[in-house]
Amino acid sequence: MSRFPETRLRRLRQSAPVRSLVRETSLEARQLVLPMFVREDISEPVAIGSMPGVVQHSLDSLRRAAADAAETGIGGVMLFGIPEVRDADGTGADDPHGILNLATEAVAAEVGDALVVQTDLCLDEFTDHGHCGVLDASGAVDNDATLDRYRSMALAQAGAGSQLLGLSGMMDGQVAAIREALDTEGFHDTLLLAYSAKYASAFYGPFREAVDSQLTGDRRTYQMDPGNRREGLREALFDVDEGADIVMVKPAMAFLDVLRKVRDAVDVPVWAYQVSGEYAMIEAAAANGWITREPAILESLLSIRRAGADVVLTYWATEVAGMLR
Ligand code: PBG
Repeated sequence: MSRFPETRLRRLRQSAPVRSLVRETSLEARQLVLPMFVREDISEPVAIGSMPGVVQHSLDSLRRAAADAAETGIGGVMLFGIPEVRDADGTGADDPHGILNLATEAVAAEVGDALVVQTDLCLDEFTDHGHCGVLDASGAVDNDATLDRYRSMALAQAGAGSQLLGLSGMMDGQVAAIREALDTEGFHDTLLLAYSAKYASAFYGPFREAVDSQLTGDRRTYQMDPGNRREGLREALFDVDEGADIVMVKPAMAFLDVLRKVRDAVDVPVWAYQVSGEYAMIEAAAANGWITREPAILESLLSIRRAGADVVLTYWATEVAGMLR
């Protein structure tokens, strides 16, 4: 029987070296992925008001920032494109000269050997209605017609040099459809990250500014209800079955229970996305002097790792890599 006073739990906390020796969860630069925005019609970076420290890059500044990111030892960059012109089908998404595909080519050439170059595979940045898929005659998001668009996007992105596709659109069957399209064209090595449990979250607010989102209404017919944990697991199991190499839970901090449940149930890597609203909350509180910025950032990331994430997408990736050094 172990009890006080023979056992003193504080013994394990007595000094920094002892605490360091018994710490269960680690945070390493290689476990961080930096999401980056590239915008078509600009020549200088443009600040994003709701995400202090994050910018919309020009093609040139993106290339330089990706090179800097590689220097810090992070595991990868996830690229998002903001086109100048949008249309109903999001044709900028699978155009080889579309901004995201051009940027992918440039970044892959610059840092493709140093880290994993990744791209967001979703239509919402490219459609004039802002939805993640194409619409049917009634204005509803058409699942199966969208899969055709995703297949074409996947080939364009893999062709541009993306090493990992982030499937964030929440269409049924998207993993299997994209895997098949890639394999048919010989892209056997292109990795698929399924945003399996992606919730219709209020914490995406600042991202909508970041990508100049055209959305009116919401995404609740495809993104998940925040009240559902079992369904999050079900989505992840489906995606593994369809051939996902990695599954994701998103957002992170408001869904740590889902993350743990998925981690315990699958054998593939599990990632989490610390989304724009999570970033903005900590930045805003810190700017007001209400919390201490660096420890809050580190604690937030540690909690996501502790809950089961192997890798975290975070807008602080490169800064945190510097803190850890
Ligand atoms: C959709 C997408 C979104 C985010 C990443 N991919 C927005 C959405 O689903 O509305 C949000 C990321 C963030 O908030 O940081 N392509």
